[in-house]
Amino acid sequence: MIQDILNVREKLKELSSDNKKGLTEEFRSFLIKSPQDFNNLYKELENIPADPIREAYSFDDATSLELNRVSSELKDSGISVWPKFYSKEKISALKNLANKCLNNAQTWLKSASDEFSIHKDNELGCEHMGSKDSLRTGRTRTRFLSKRSEHNNSPVNELFSDLRINQVGRLLYDAHAFKSYFLFERLVPSNISDSWHIDGILDQYKAMILLEDVSEKQGPMFFKPNSKSLLDNKLKPLLYTTFAHGRNWGCYPYKSIIDDLGIQTFKCTGTAGDAIFFDTLNLHRGSICKSGQRLGIVAYLGVETARNQVLRFLGVE
Ligand SMILES: [Fe+2]
Repeated sequence: MIQDILNVREKLKELSSDNKKGLTEEFRSFLIKSPQDFNNLYKELENIPADPIREAYSFDDATSLELNRVSSELKDSGISVWPKFYSKEKISALKNLANKCLNNAQTWLKSASDEFSIHKDNELGCEHMGSKDSLRTGRTRTRFLSKRSEHNNSPVNELFSDLRINQVGRLLYDAHAFKSYFLFERLVPSNISDSWHIDGILDQYKAMILLEDVSEKQGPMFFKPNSKSLLDNKLKPLLYTTFAHGRNWGCYPYKSIIDDLGIQTFKCTGTAGDAIFFDTLNLHRGSICKSGQRLGIVAYLGVETARNQVLRFLGVE
């Protein structure tokens, strides 16, 4: 059965959608019964090469050097900072747009329901995300989806066309990388912090671009470098529980496990314009904002690895 699952990519073209559904269910129920088989499969999927990248991007020498540095740090520790990724002028244009969008999002949050929901902002082209609880946790978010047609505002189009962000993922995974969406995020003081988590079990990474200086007081992201390497060891339950029970339930380890890891926390402080690239299979969390605010952009990137193609077939999001 494991071999059939590993080879499923080759069969996909021949299968009707009904057959695909049946096969997904058959594979899933087999793997749900056997956590060990799932963990072995997950590991083996890393060794299958992705489809070759058709068109190479080209960059000047200085940029190529920085791209190589960032992707190799990401490989080693799961996180890397690219200082001055954007100029002051660009940051100021993005900040204006972020505040406009987030103010609209905040107004909407006041009338939002207790359940998480998404509200389309037709004026600005973004969509607000959250629930009443977001007001309590001090977190406002709104996102721009990637789509073929142009967005109305040029800073957003420029973000979507910045191939440096994609190239980091290409170098990291040796696979095609694509932006799913950009999120503007504002964190204001509250006494509630996020819990340690991984984002999911698909290969993916994020770029967080700081729009204002972030010191320890503004609630920087906290990150456990190279904790991804413990997913088949001390953090072993996470991969399987996320597969079997979904991300909300499966991606959050017990706090006591984190304390026992003995990994020093990396605090993502920095200067407006810095970009922090991180592999979301490493443990991270938002910390508490004590004063001022943390304003930033988070780019969500997917990659076309063989592992992702098989996991998506198995119903993993
Ligand atoms: Fe996260």
